Amino acid sequence: NPVRFSGVWRFHELLPFAPQDRVVTVGEGQTLLQQTDAVGEYVGMDNGKLHLQYEGMNPSGSFKDNGMCAAVTHASILGAQRAACASTGNTSASLALYCSATRLMKAIIFIGSGKISYGKLSQALDYGALTVQIAGDFDDAMLRVREVAKELGIYLVNSVNPFRLEGQKTIMFRVLEALRWEVPDWIVVPGGNLGNSSAFGKAFMELKELGLIDRVPRIAVINASGADTLYELHERRGVRWNGGHVNMDPIVQYNDQMDREGIKADTIASAIEINRPVNLKKCLRALEFTDGVVRQVSDQEILDAKARVGAGGFGCEPASAASVAGAKMLRREGVISASDRVVCILTGHELKDPTATVAYHTTDQEVFHKTLGSRGVTKASFANK
Ligand code: F0G
Repeated sequence: NPVRFSGVWRFHELLPFAPQDRVVTVGEGQTLLQQTDAVGEYVGMDNGKLHLQYEGMNPSGSFKDNGMCAAVTHASILGAQRAACASTGNTSASLALYCSATRLMKAIIFIGSGKISYGKLSQALDYGALTVQIAGDFDDAMLRVREVAKELGIYLVNSVNPFRLEGQKTIMFRVLEALRWEVPDWIVVPGGNLGNSSAFGKAFMELKELGLIDRVPRIAVINASGADTLYELHERRGVRWNGGHVNMDPIVQYNDQMDREGIKADTIASAIEINRPVNLKKCLRALEFTDGVVRQVSDQEILDAKARVGAGGFGCEPASAASVAGAKMLRREGVISASDRVVCILTGHELKDPTATVAYHTTDQEVFHKTLGSRGVTKASFANK
């Protein structure tokens, strides 16, 4: 029974939209919660307290497979022939994999020009997706794909799709399972389109309602400082879920300001280079329910953390390391205590986005400057490694 071998579908009782004989799987979710004192020391935690949930071990190399198997299952139940997404790379790689592996439908992906790492692009191309490069960035691609999907009746799999989030809930089920259902104090996750944080919040709401847990962890969402809309709105402008009565004025004002001033997302962590997150409201709900916080970390902090994750015997792509950099920041602020149990989500595999990594470690000044020096990253912290 394939349901048993999927780290997502073995929780099918908690994802009750698909009959067991209709689920689509390529063996996703066989991921591990790892405990690490090497990285824990860097973050400032007591021994035994820092865990990394390594979602890069999924079939397409990122956490996206958790949600994509659910979305593609739903699409196939509807009889869809085509599925589309906008992507900074991982969603498109995942969609392309499911479409080719299951032969259920054709994948159509929209990417911003020059914004996607070759590792991720090569996956989509090899898996046979129709790849459309549009003038603009992810936020522009997202806008376009929503229009096109609506106009042509194509199934949309971006995390506006609620079935994706259903699948992504299982990341938290597996974390709790690994901790023998002892609830950790913190879940720290990078924030881009805010699908993960929204899904995690929903997972905890449901588990609490079912009486399977009696308290919930606090969720910390970590933006890159060059793509920090959630941070700006939640921490600086005080935007809250407020029981479902979100004050939209500061959100509209900030969107207008970004339009007016031509503010575009810009970070070395290309996977989370997003300024108009589609799951903003759902994420605000998750933050309220879990007493969550939002922080922003610089490209320097992201790359330094990433090098420590690698040196600690793991490895991840730049966006993923934002979680570790964010945990370190919250620890320094005293928001996280050294004795708290902390789980950082490593969202994507080391090999996904290697350009920045090579530049970070190179002794070739020209290569370094072109990729990192020009964005204000220095090697200072790395030299102290
Ligand atoms: N980490 C990685 C490696 C990602 O690829 C993404 C999102 C995120 C974190 C952010 O997750 O959107 O749930 O807040 N990547 C999307 C994509 C946008 O198109 O692959 P989120």
